Amino acid sequence: EKGGYEHFMLKEMYEQPKAIADTFSPRLKNGEIIIEELGMSPEEIRQVEKIMIVACGSASHVGHTAKYIFEDMARIPVEVDVASEFRYRNPILNDRTVVVVISQSGETADTLAALREAKKQGARVLGIVNVVGSSIAREADNVMYTWAGPEIAVATTKAYSAQLTAVYLLAMKFAYERNEISREMLSELIDELKALPIQVEMLLNNQGKIQKFANRYLAAKNIFFIGRGIDYAISMEGSLKLKEISYIHSEAYAAGELKHGTISLVEEGTLVVSLVTQKELYKKIMSNMEEVRTRGAFVMGVTLEGNLEAEKSADYTVYIPETSPYFTNSLAIIPLQLFAYYIAVGRGCDVDKPRNLAKSVTVE
Ligand code: M6R
Repeated sequence: EKGGYEHFMLKEMYEQPKAIADTFSPRLKNGEIIIEELGMSPEEIRQVEKIMIVACGSASHVGHTAKYIFEDMARIPVEVDVASEFRYRNPILNDRTVVVVISQSGETADTLAALREAKKQGARVLGIVNVVGSSIAREADNVMYTWAGPEIAVATTKAYSAQLTAVYLLAMKFAYERNEISREMLSELIDELKALPIQVEMLLNNQGKIQKFANRYLAAKNIFFIGRGIDYAISMEGSLKLKEISYIHSEAYAAGELKHGTISLVEEGTLVVSLVTQKELYKKIMSNMEEVRTRGAFVMGVTLEGNLEAEKSADYTVYIPETSPYFTNSLAIIPLQLFAYYIAVGRGCDVDKPRNLAKSVTVE
């Protein structure tokens, strides 16, 4: 059932091009984005005043990515919260708030409780869910399914990628209906979206290089991930992937925050993985890379093809193909997943069933 792969996680990583394509294809028709299951008229989309994204773990990282995209592309204020905080903090919601709950399993206890809380307060709840007919899918006002298929490995990969895709479609739909992007911009974005599956496949085929690099860090004690803007969101996911399956301590930081404390943890040889996919922020993040290098860090940079400058600030560089700045997370996550996977394999960890973790967290 692993289809010749050593682990479900590896198999599922390789299913990402399909998960992404299956999630966008049914929703693209004649140059338009059609999300019938959203159940919202263009008028209702224009009336939304706030989006609140609630989820746990990796799904909440999708929420962080979504915040950057929605605010920049659709100019709607977005709040992101982990469900366990949201449900107990008396959030401010009304009938012009859309609460988006994101969940692969559709059974996460805190996320389900957050959904119920949001409904009680009169907000419209949209579920982005992978498991058809799950509790969250049944209880949300509307459900947008991610079509990743069953995910077995505890560490999510293809469901995460499908969730990102769903969020892109949603942001593009909202941005277009609210006149924040032109038809030309919309078609350009659609073209970039359609290119993602093949680009992801190219990155997956680069696994040999990542495996070799990962093997140098099997004994690492700490690994840091840094980024700015949308790259910070992907840092969180890269860090979680690594720690959950390899048991290496890891943290993600907004690069500009390093100086406010964390940089004291950087020692000779500490690996810092730096995400460098936003052209507008290149200079800023590269100066953070220099800062940690001065303190002895070894820096792995993940950047866009053509950014040869990054090689000056990184000791090792991984390139991802050019795409819209909104979509870079879908590409940058691939080397980070592979890196986590090969470190875990190299350390002899139980990749598909890491200690202390369950695929679906149905208790609080
Ligand atoms: O099923 P859900 O998407 O609601 O699960 C949420 C988290 O438990 C999940 O993303 C978890 O963080 C993963 N193990 C991460 O790989």
